[in-house]
This record gives sequence, C-alpha cells and structure tokens, in this order.
Amino acid sequence: MSVSGPSAPPAAGAIEVRELSKRYGSVGRGVLALDRVTLRIPRGTVFGLLGPNGAGKTTLIKVLTGISDITSGTASVAGFDVQRESLRVRARIGWVAAEVILDDDFSAWENLWLQAKLQGLRDWQERALELLRYFSLADRKDDKVGQYSTGMRKKLEIALALLHQPTVIFMDEPTIGLDVPTRRMLWEIVTGVHREFGVTVLLTTHYIEEADALCERIGIIDQGRIIAEGTPDELKARVKADLIVLETRDGLDVPRLSALPGVQEVRAQGNEWTIRAGSAEAVLPNLLHAVPPEQIRRISVEKPSLETVFLDLTGRRIGGDEPMRDVRRFYMQMRRARG
Ligand SMILES: Nc1ncnc2c1ncn2[C@@H]1O[C@H](COP(=O)(O)OP(=O)(O)OP(=O)(O)O)[C@@H](O)[C@H]1O
Ligand SMILES: [Mg+2]
Repeated sequence: MSVSGPSAPPAAGAIEVRELSKRYGSVGRGVLALDRVTLRIPRGTVFGLLGPNGAGKTTLIKVLTGISDITSGTASVAGFDVQRESLRVRARIGWVAAEVILDDDFSAWENLWLQAKLQGLRDWQERALELLRYFSLADRKDDKVGQYSTGMRKKLEIALALLHQPTVIFMDEPTIGLDVPTRRMLWEIVTGVHREFGVTVLLTTHYIEEADALCERIGIIDQGRIIAEGTPDELKARVKADLIVLETRDGLDVPRLSALPGVQEVRAQGNEWTIRAGSAEAVLPNLLHAVPPEQIRRISVEKPSLETVFLDLTGRRIGGDEPMRDVRRFYMQMRRARG
C-alpha cells in the first residue's frame, strides 16, 4: 500500500519548535531568554540563527540539546521530543560549543578515544580515521592538540561532534574569534560536512556575512523572538527600500521629512533617524535641503541586505563585525572553559 499522496503527513523537520519559551530565574524577576519561538527546520538544511549578543541563540541550542530545560512549549529534534526522549535526541545530535572543549595534553586520537568513551561507542576507530582523513588531520593524529593551529582545533572539534554519526549538528558561533581566512576555511568545512555526511546543521552567528554566505535558511532572533525567517534572498526581498541613516545634533521635523517625495517612513532612535525610501539617490537632494547641514553628524545609505532587514525590523544593528570585542569574548570563553 502506498503511503504517499496528498493525504500523507509532511515529512518531519529535523528540528521542530513550537511556542517555546525559556525563562532563567523566577517569573517577574528572571530573564525571558526565549519568547514563544516557533521554527521548523527541514532535514538536510544548513540553518543559521542570526542575532545580536544576548538574543537567545545559545539558549535555544541548550534547550534543543537537552542541556537546559524548557519553561513552556515543545521542541523535537530528529523526530524525538527533547524533554521526554532526551536520550534518543542525544544519540542523534552532535554539538560544537562556542568554548574550546579539547584537551590540550591529549593527541587528536586520544581526544577521539575520549569522545567514543563518553558516547559509549564500540567500533569507532574506522569512523575516526575516516573523519581525520576528511579533515586532513590524519598525519597529525598523534600530535598533542596543544600544538594545533586554531583552524585545526576547530576541525577536530567538528570531527568529535560527528564521531557517533549524528543526523543533526549544532554549532554555536563556530567562527567566533577566528581570523578571516580561517573563518572562510570553516565555511567550506561546514558546507562540505553537510554535503558529505548528510547532516542538518543549526549554527548561530552574529556575522551577517557568514549567515548570508553559509546558510540556506536564516532565522533572525532578537530579544528571544524570531522576528524573521527565510532564505537570505527572501529576507532581503522583504526590505525593498533603501535606508538612509542620519545622525543629527538635535531633533528633526519628522512630519516635514515624512512628506518629502519618495520617503516611505521615518523612524527615530534618539538622534539617529532611519529613513526608508524607494531610492536613496532620489531622496537625498531634498533631504539635504530639508535638514540644516550643521545638524548632520553622520549620514549613510544602506542598500537592501540582511543588515537592513534587521535595521528595518528593530531600528538597531546586529553589531557583529566588532573584532575587538569578539577576540575578548573568545579569550574569556576559553579561560572559562579551561577553568
Ligand atoms: N544561565 C543563565 N542565567 C541567567 N540568565 C541567562 C543565563 N544564560 C543566559 N542568560 C540570559 O539570557 C539571554 C540570552 O542569552 P544567550 O546566551 O542565549 O544569548 P546569545 O544570543 O547566545 O548571545 P551571544 O551572542 O552573546 O552569545 C541574555 O539576556 C542572557 O543574559
Ligand atoms: Mg551565545
């Protein structure tokens, strides 16, 4: 008997999240880190969760991997409920944490052995060798990880996460603190892993460029809420307009600006103004006429991009490309991870 056809239920997504909320601390005083998140990530997708610091990205990964409990709502991974069937979920997922988890005094092979023990795997050696070969680490497998470059360590972390043949892998800020060439190398690795091993990848990032280059679908998260979801092109198409961002010394005459031909909307955040316009080029001459030059501290034009999607939805920037802060955070996390 055929089960296909219009009445068959849709194939389960690799990750299904419904009305999921997570509160740290007590009601009223705690932090609502996830606020009724609903998401469906199809199998075999590289999905990016893009959002600023504190948006709730790590929290969502912790909930989906069973590290954190759920306050309300439901979530399933690889077809199993993360609360009721957490062991089944754990057997099917891999996790690459933002922190460094490798033991420096162990070789790559010993780290793999340790991972196999932790996972209760018996015949892991062949798979481990296959992974080492795939990541071009086979000839360094007996070197201590302390002697590895940052890129090599990251590859080994991904190899560890893949050892037990998971169907879904989570990567929390996989490229944080990495230099640009290593970051790009890692993009290729993630795409390759997805193709080669057929896994669904959920990664978090606050780099817009990374989400755009790497992810088939993106969920934009802000203050615990998914505020937009789709392919990078679908998201960019949402903001058809240009955005003119203007910083002034004092307030502006908003009704006057709004009335300028071609202006669709004027939004204020303090003395920063976001002006939505069909074409920035058409509006700018009139705008510069309407705003006294001594008022203007800064002016910029943003063409449709993922950054403008966020700017348009929230009036703020994701603020991902601040390398100094990233490096600080990275070292802070490393110190924390090493105890
Ligand atoms: N263990 C915890 N106890 C209390 N509050 C927490 C805890 N972990 C996270 N939070 C809070 O929950 C919110 C979401 O944090 P989360 O770490 O999920 O954000 P994020 O998107 O991963 O940010 P980042 O980009 O900085 O890693 C923040 O307000 C954070 O302070
Ligand atoms: Mg985080």
